[in-house]
Amino acid sequence: MQPTDITCGSVVLQPWAERDIEALVAGRNDPEVVRWTGSPFPYTREHAERYVREETPQWWSEGSAATWAVHDATTGAVLGAVALHGIKDGEGEIAYYTHPEGRGRGTTTEAVAAVCRWAFGVLELQRIGWAASVGNWASRAVAQKNGFTFEGTSRLAYNQRGTRVDDWLGSLLATDPMVDTRPLPRRVELSDGVVTLRRWRPEDAPDVTRACDDPLMARWLPLPTPYTAQDGVDYVDGFTARLWADGRAAELAVTDAVTGELLGACGLKLGGREQGFGEVGYWTAPWARGRGVAGRAAAVIAHWGLTGLGLSRVELLAEVGNEASQRAAESGGFVREGVLRSARRDRHGTPHDVVVFSRTAADAAAPPT
Ligand SMILES: CC(C)(COP(=O)(O)OP(=O)(O)OC[C@H]1O[C@@H](n2cnc3c(N)ncnc32)[C@H](O)[C@@H]1OP(=O)(O)O)[C@@H](O)C(=O)NCCC(=O)NCCS
Repeated sequence: MQPTDITCGSVVLQPWAERDIEALVAGRNDPEVVRWTGSPFPYTREHAERYVREETPQWWSEGSAATWAVHDATTGAVLGAVALHGIKDGEGEIAYYTHPEGRGRGTTTEAVAAVCRWAFGVLELQRIGWAASVGNWASRAVAQKNGFTFEGTSRLAYNQRGTRVDDWLGSLLATDPMVDTRPLPRRVELSDGVVTLRRWRPEDAPDVTRACDDPLMARWLPLPTPYTAQDGVDYVDGFTARLWADGRAAELAVTDAVTGELLGACGLKLGGREQGFGEVGYWTAPWARGRGVAGRAAAVIAHWGLTGLGLSRVELLAEVGNEASQRAAESGGFVREGVLRSARRDRHGTPHDVVVFSRTAADAAAPPT
């Protein structure tokens, strides 16, 4: 395989050369690169010299790996690295990192796209694999923005400098359209002027803990009791982020549209999205109850589901005994349809009857009030 330059938009990919050695040492010792890759640490000048002078030229010549320094097309500065490892039998695996000052500008996405197009076109690969340690959302975003299909988690599949960690896996086939495969938009902000629904942020964790460590909440929702500070962190950082990324549910923080104060939570379960179906759930923080927050939030999220996500029906289920929730559903414009018997189990496994409400695409013609 001939070492090749690839020029694309704002970056130029060039096989590693002597002039890049210092940048290579700096890049490989960056804390985020150390955290998310298996690169040796500390990464010394000797490592870099061997990589540039011996290893990568050998991989190019035997056709087992193609590796590039990513240069800024204007300044020539090294922004990061991209590589295709394990090239064999029509397959290879993409790998990349970007220096802190180059992140968040779309250049990694651009470089990865260029390498994938080159690999499918020139090497005629059929499949490019992607793997990242679980929790590496930025890497996952780069892969999915380029059309990689997320395939799941491989448990303890990666040996990171002697510690085994769970790996996320994905792939891009030569026949796949290289379009974003993330099931939900990264940024969502919905408002009726009184409440604003937005993605959860790490700084919401203490308010979530304060809101959920509440007897009324524990009575109607399957929450841990007592609800600890760690439960709040897991909710905003882990649980809701995973549901969002998998497209299983869009869980949003409900805030005061004027002051930004956290008022509650509202989510749309999307397990039935392919059938045009979603289900709203909500809670209101003790300090914000009795002001119509849940009904407004439910109306806003249902409108988004029915218009933005193309759903035809949004359901809301409230336990027969939960009158506050039923009033909220009605104030949110949901139509009461009847009672589903034994449709919900509580934390002890006891089934309960629930009242089913819905809003449909026909109702959505009117904007939420
Ligand atoms: C992963 C990495 C290469 C991304 O580089 P980058 O230059 O920021 O990538 P881009 O700018 O092309 O795209 C980043 C995307 O990730 C998204 N992203 C960043 N952090 C995120 C997070 N915590 N959750 C979800 N998405 C996130 C960005 O918003 C952006 O997507 P958008 O355009 O839809 O907003 C960089 O963070 C890095 O070098 N990390 C350390 C090394 C590493 O993890 N390498 C991959 C090992 S598998």
